[in-house]
Amino acid sequence: MFDATQEYTFTHGTVVAGVQWKSPIGTAAGTYNLDACSVYYNPAALGSVCTKGVSPVPWEGNPAPRTAETPAGTVNSVGLQNPGVDHYLEDDLPRLKAMGTTVISNVAGHSAEDFAYVVEKLAKTNVDMLEINVSCPNVKAGTSFAKDPVALASLVRQLRPLTDKPMIFKLSPNVSDIVPVAQAVVESGADAVSLINTFVGMRIDTRTGKPILANVTGGVSGPAIHPMAVGMVYKIRQAFHDFPIIAMGGTSSGEDALEFLYAGANAVEVGSAALVDPAAPVRIACELESLLDERPELSEALSVGKNWINRNE
Ligand SMILES: Cc1cc2nc3c(=O)[nH]c(=O)nc-3n(C[C@H](O)[C@H](O)[C@H](O)COP(=O)(O)O)c2cc1C
Repeated sequence: MFDATQEYTFTHGTVVAGVQWKSPIGTAAGTYNLDACSVYYNPAALGSVCTKGVSPVPWEGNPAPRTAETPAGTVNSVGLQNPGVDHYLEDDLPRLKAMGTTVISNVAGHSAEDFAYVVEKLAKTNVDMLEINVSCPNVKAGTSFAKDPVALASLVRQLRPLTDKPMIFKLSPNVSDIVPVAQAVVESGADAVSLINTFVGMRIDTRTGKPILANVTGGVSGPAIHPMAVGMVYKIRQAFHDFPIIAMGGTSSGEDALEFLYAGANAVEVGSAALVDPAAPVRIACELESLLDERPELSEALSVGKNWINRNE
């Protein structure tokens, strides 16, 4: 039986934009909390931990209610509540790094200036990778860059000189074609893309006829979005055989993660599954480890920074 309190080590790692991950499985932004999760497993065992989005100053987030359940996932309108980058630099980041964790800092902002401010601060730390969240559907201007390839390319070029850290841009599924958006990232000097953030959706309380969320709409995550996420990863991989891709969206099992790897992802992050079971990322990493034992060709490709599509190129 799976025992989350055991120490786990993985033999099938991956390399994402030059950074070694001990397993292809990491946590997705906004769904990992150090105090809550370290009771269940050591975060250093995972491929990486991506922390909650941090903004230049503390953000309160949106009014409650901010989550609603669906038959196959969650709709959230948390709105990137966070205590700000200075608190993060004094608290979460040093604690996670002291445990030996590979850390991705997720960066939140309303504008290019906000992103630049946080990136400059993080550039001076020992964080391993930066993920720029240009795709949150729940904050002002949250998806404007992810919907406009020209604006996104300009943002990438503006942030690029501010740091030598690998910079990942997190893409939105709320676009008609994700390939031109990925192309803007690929051609402007970024190191990786991650996808997908949540789909815009809502739920209505049929007793009152009113929206359940105070924000009216929210972002849909969880098993419902997995096939769409796999499709978008596959499309980007067909267009760009070598560019690093971190996949997320509805991963609940090792099999779900394996689907993303066969679509061409270099790594997979677990989000909403951890809201139901805090130990889900390490359980899924164990399941994937067994699946990769039987797939040496895929494991070998990942271990040298390749993917399933470019493994023989
Ligand atoms: C409660 C909640 C908070 C989230 N916060 C963030 C965040 O701070 N930054 C971000 O880039 N994505 C955030 N996300 C999106 C997730 O990282 C992930 O992209 C999305 O939920 C899809 O993966 P999943 O279906 O496995 O949850 C959040 C998602 C949820 C459910």
